[in-house]
Formats: sequence, structure tokens, C-alpha cells
Amino acid sequence: MSAKNNFLTQTTENIRAFFRLLFLYRSAETENVSIEITTYCNFTCKMCYKYAYKIGDKHISPDVFKKINSELPKNIKKISLSGLGEGLMNPNIINYLHLCREKHPKALLDFTTNGNLFSDEITEDILCSPVDMVTFSLDTISVPIPEMGHKADDKIVSNIKKFALRIKECGSGIKLRLQSIVFSKEQVDEILEFASSIGVSIVNLIRMDTPSDMMYSRLPIKKFRDIFKRSRKWGKRKKIYVISSGYHSLPMRLASHFDKICLQYHNFLYFDVDGNALPCCVLRNYSFGDIMNLSLNEIWSSIKASKFFKKQRLLCKSCDVWRHSYSH
Ligand SMILES: C[S@@+](CC[C@H](N)C(=O)[O-])C[C@H]1O[C@@H](n2cnc3c(N)ncnc32)[C@H](O)[C@@H]1O
Ligand code: SF4
Repeated sequence: MSAKNNFLTQTTENIRAFFRLLFLYRSAETENVSIEITTYCNFTCKMCYKYAYKIGDKHISPDVFKKINSELPKNIKKISLSGLGEGLMNPNIINYLHLCREKHPKALLDFTTNGNLFSDEITEDILCSPVDMVTFSLDTISVPIPEMGHKADDKIVSNIKKFALRIKECGSGIKLRLQSIVFSKEQVDEILEFASSIGVSIVNLIRMDTPSDMMYSRLPIKKFRDIFKRSRKWGKRKKIYVISSGYHSLPMRLASHFDKICLQYHNFLYFDVDGNALPCCVLRNYSFGDIMNLSLNEIWSSIKASKFFKKQRLLCKSCDVWRHSYSH
């Protein structure tokens, strides 16, 4: 997809989301899911929710995965095999991508990775898989960052470069996305230059969330916004789509009722490794239902799921991942 197509698709999605949120509707059925295929991880990043919420190590069972996949609506738009863990730790990931594609030929399939486990063999397996987009969490290449974030790692940078090269060589059409927590202008500039040098389509600039007992300081909001706006301009020149869930245009601010409504929840569900349907990866104890006992339709239309929409201001008060301003 070209930068222009990315932009058009995203604009159409934003318009739909705008009206839905403005009038406080959820989509009729789930359109976008994340399936946590593992909570094992080969890293121990300090800022990670996995450690903040003390989540133990487990792979999703094939039965739970198959049940989720079989329940997803025919017109599901996006399936991400990502959660609070490193997807490539699950040896079934490629098989799961194939199962998703067989059942949902038109869905956008993706996963997010720290990139450390890429080998020549895994690279080829992924190239032959039906994945549409691979997101690498890359917070720095060489510019020093605070102790949070994915550490600088030459092996990861080299893995990403090799993967990008193989995508070009074999014309697989897989899109590359970089996802970086914003720490400084210099760090972001380095990430953007890297993105442009290897043919990345999307750069997602994220703001670090500091859940519950995390006491890390963050960039002043003005600084974050300045860096984002500058990067977005740069992206327009380079034809790279630079996005952030933490920066809203005026229409999206209206749609979020000025930060009272989460911009993600209206069409989204998160499945944890046990098959519980959650509003997101963070609200681990707020299950709308277990997919092994209920249909997805029952879960999505449950009173608990629709009540969540109204109660979210209270439940999500400390999370500002999808807000324009900091909540704390
Ligand atoms: C939880 S990881 C899972 C996938 C994979 N292990 C990885 O690191 O890419 C998904 C994304 O969450 C982001 N993340 C983790 N903790 C965060 C926090 N406190 N605030 C914002 N983003 C965070 C990571 O940077 C990463 O891009
Ligand atoms: S951010 Fe990703 S790589 Fe880092 S600890 Fe969390 S799950 Fe693992």
C-alpha cells in the first residue's frame, strides 16, 4: 500500500470512528482484535505492562486460538497476533497466521515484535506467511534513551534491515511499520531516517504510558506534540505515514468527547492467552466473557461490554494511551 493509500484508508476509518464515537455507538460487531498468543518474552523492558502487572508466562492453547479464530466475524478488518509478550516465542505463530488467513481472506493480519528472534529461517517463514504487516518496536538505534524502552541493539537493527531487503528482493508486499516510544527529538530523528532508508510504510510514535506503580517521568506534553508535528511533516515529504494514538486532530478530539472516550474501544477486543475477551491489554481483570464458554456475538453484545463504554472514564482514568492529553 502506498503512503497515499495508507492515508486514504486511515482517513476513511477516522471518519467512521468519528461519527460512531460522537454519538456514543459501538460497531455492530467486532472489527479489530488483538490475540495474545503468548505472554513469554525474551526481554524485560522496564516500562512494559507485562512486568507492571506481573503477568506469568504462558502460550495460548491451540484450542483457544482456533475457537477465537472461528468466532471472528466474516468481515473482521484487522487481526493482530500481539499481546503482552513476544509473539515469536510461540512456535505456532506461522501456523496461526495461516489459520487466520484461511478463515478471513480479507482481514489485515499483523504482529508486533521486538525483532530480536529474527533469524534467516524465521525471516523466510514470515515472507512465505500470509502476514500483511510486521511492526518492529524500535526505540533507538544509537541515540541514548532513558532506562525504559527497548535498548539499542545492533543485532535487531541488522535483523530489520535484512528483513526489509528480503521483502524487496522477493516482492512479498509485506508492509513494515516501526513503533517507537518518544523520548527525544534526536532519538526520533534517528528512527525516522532509518525508516526512510529501509522502506518503512508507517511509523507509530507512542507516548510512554505509566500504569499504576510506575513512577517514571515522561516528556512534557508540549514537547511530545512538537516532536510529533515535526515528524508528521517530515513523513509527508518522505511519503511515510507518521501516526500516534497520543495526538488527536480537532475532529478526533471532538469524537473522544475531549478525552472522555477511548478512541480504540468502539470496535476492538483483546483476547488474553486464556481466551478472555478484554477491552484492552491492560484491564486484565475486566473480562466480558470467556470465548470457550460464549460466542463472540454473546460477548460483544453483553451488558458488561456495553456498560463498559459508559463507565470507561472511571475504569480507564489512569491510562492515557489513546488520549490527547496526559491523564496524570
Ligand atoms: C507489549 S509489546 C509486545 C510485542 C513485542 N514484545 C514488542 O515489544 O514489540 C507491544 C508494544 O507495547 C509497547 N509498550 C510496552 N510498555 C509500554 C508503556 N508503558 N507505554 C507505552 N507503550 C508500551 C512496546 O513499546 C511495544 O511497542
Ligand atoms: S515491550 Fe515487548 S519486548 Fe519488551 S518486555 Fe514487553 S513484551 Fe517483551
